[in-house]
Amino acid sequence: MSELSKETAGNYAASLIASEKAKKEGYAQVLWLDGIERKYIEEVGAMNIFFLMDDELVTPNLTGSILPGITRYSIISLAKKWGVTISERKISIDEVFKAHEDGKLKEVFGSGTAAVVSPVGEIRYGDKVFYR
Ligand SMILES: Cc1ncc(COP(=O)(O)O)c(C=O)c1O
Repeated sequence: MSELSKETAGNYAASLIASEKAKKEGYAQVLWLDGIERKYIEEVGAMNIFFLMDDELVTPNLTGSILPGITRYSIISLAKKWGVTISERKISIDEVFKAHEDGKLKEVFGSGTAAVVSPVGEIRYGDKVFYR
């Protein structure tokens, strides 16, 4: 097995462990955070993710480890056409919980060709749970 295949297999195995753990706890998907600071949101399962906070629609900016999904691109294009404020920027898990606590978090959804637009009903981070 080449070094690259070992690395790919390693990444895949790691994602399976997290998915299994999430499933056991009643969750459908894993919310992936960045691998360096472990606080910035990247994707959810095999979907890109969007947060509507007040009137700003936020999706993580493409850092290299986030797949530039065609559905993500379509949503950004539509949002711009409809005059929705859309930001591609870093968004931390703490910012999401703070927005929730402040009553500013209005919608969370994942996007992908298979999932189309899938609403997120609940997020857990450590012992904090967010219900929409
Ligand atoms: C990791 C990951 N992120 C996001 C997406 C969504 O991409 P798209 O909108 O192009 O289907 C996919 C789709 O397979 C994916 O595997």
